[in-house]
Amino acid sequence: MQMTRVAPTAQEEDDPDGHSLLAGLYAVSRACDDAGPAMSWRHFAASVRSGSGGERAEAWAARDGDRVVGGHILHLPQDDNTHLAMLRLMTHPSRRRAGVGGALLDHAIGRVRDLGRSVLIAEAPSDGPGTAFAKARGFSPASTETRLVLDLRTADWSGLELLRGRATRHATGYSLERWAGPTPDDLLGDMARLTEGMNDHPLGDLAMEDERWTPERVRAREEMLGRAGQRTYTVIARHTASGEPAGFTQLVVDAERPEGWARQGATTVLAPHRGRRLGLVLKLANLTWFRACESSIERVITWNSVENPHMLAINEALGFEVFDTWHQWQLDI
Ligand SMILES: CC(C)(COP(=O)(O)OP(=O)(O)OC[C@H]1O[C@@H](n2cnc3c(N)ncnc32)[C@H](O)[C@@H]1OP(=O)(O)O)[C@@H](O)C(=O)NCCC(=O)NCCS
Repeated sequence: MQMTRVAPTAQEEDDPDGHSLLAGLYAVSRACDDAGPAMSWRHFAASVRSGSGGERAEAWAARDGDRVVGGHILHLPQDDNTHLAMLRLMTHPSRRRAGVGGALLDHAIGRVRDLGRSVLIAEAPSDGPGTAFAKARGFSPASTETRLVLDLRTADWSGLELLRGRATRHATGYSLERWAGPTPDDLLGDMARLTEGMNDHPLGDLAMEDERWTPERVRAREEMLGRAGQRTYTVIARHTASGEPAGFTQLVVDAERPEGWARQGATTVLAPHRGRRLGLVLKLANLTWFRACESSIERVITWNSVENPHMLAINEALGFEVFDTWHQWQLDI
C-alpha cells in the first residue's frame, strides 16, 4: 500500500468524474457516508484544500495499485490552536479490518509530528467502527455531541409562532438584522466579536484554546464557504441602547447537493445578553426566514454538546429530535 499526497489542480477539482486521486478519495468518502447530509464534490474539494476558516489542510490517499482504498485529511489551525491537528480518517468499507486504517493513522501521526503539532482530534459516530478503532489505537474520549434534526415539513409552525411571540417579550431592547451570503463589509467587525462568543461553548476534555477572530478571518471563512458551494443565512441581534452586537445564528445549505438538508451553523449570545431568550428568538427568526427562501429543504441538522443544556433546551423547544451521537477522540502524540 502506498501513501500519496492529494494536492489537486484546479482542473481536477472541476472534474468529479475524473480519475484523479481527489476523485478516488471522494469515492471513499461517499462510501463512508453516514445517514446525515452528504458532502458534495465541491465541498469535499474545498475541504481538501483548506479547512473551514483560517486553517491549512493536507490530504493523503492510501493506494493499492491504482485504487484508492482509504485516506486521511488533516486540518491545521493557523490563527490559534497551533498545537492541534483535526483528523478525518477513512477506509473504504470493502477494505476494512485489514490494517489500512492503522497504517493511515501511523502516517497521519508522522505528518503531525513533522509539522510540530502535539494533539490529534478525530470524531466518529458512537455506534460505528470509529469508536472501536479509536479505543484500540489509544485515543481518549474528550467530548460527546448529539446530532438533532428538525423536520421542516412536520414542524408545528403555528406553535412556533406563539413561542416566538412569548420569547420576544423577554428580549425587548434588541433588534434583528439578517443577510444571505457574505457579511456586509461594515458588519465584519461585529461578526468577528460574535464568532468569538463561540469560545464559551462546552469543550469537555478537548485540549482546545480560545479561537481569535478578526474581520479578515471572517471574510476568509466566507470565501472558503463560497468556494465550497455553501450558502449561508445569518441573523444577528443588536442591543438597541448601546448599538453593540449581542448574538447571532447561521444556517448553511449546500447549493450543489442539498438533498433536502440544511445544517445549523454557529449560534451564540454574548455573555452580557444571556438569559433573555435571545437564542430562541434568533434561531426561530432564522428558521422562519430560511424556510421561506429555501422551499426544497426538508430537514435541518444541528450539533449539540451533551454538556450544553441551554442550547439543548432551545433545540427541544423548537422541535428538534435526536438523530445520533458522536464522540470526539483525542490523542497526545
Ligand atoms: C474506523 C476506520 C478508519 C477503521 O479502518 P480499518 O482499515 O478497518 O482499521 P484497521 O484494520 O487498521 O483496524 C485497527 C484496529 O481497530 C479496531 N477496529 C477497527 N474496526 C473495528 C470494528 N468494526 N469493530 C471492532 N474493532 C474494530 C480493531 O482493534 C482493529 O484491529 P484488528 O482488526 O486487528 O482487530 C474505518 O472503519 C472507517 O473508515 N470508518 C468510518 C470513518 C470513521 O469512523 N473514522 C473515524 C476514525 S477515529
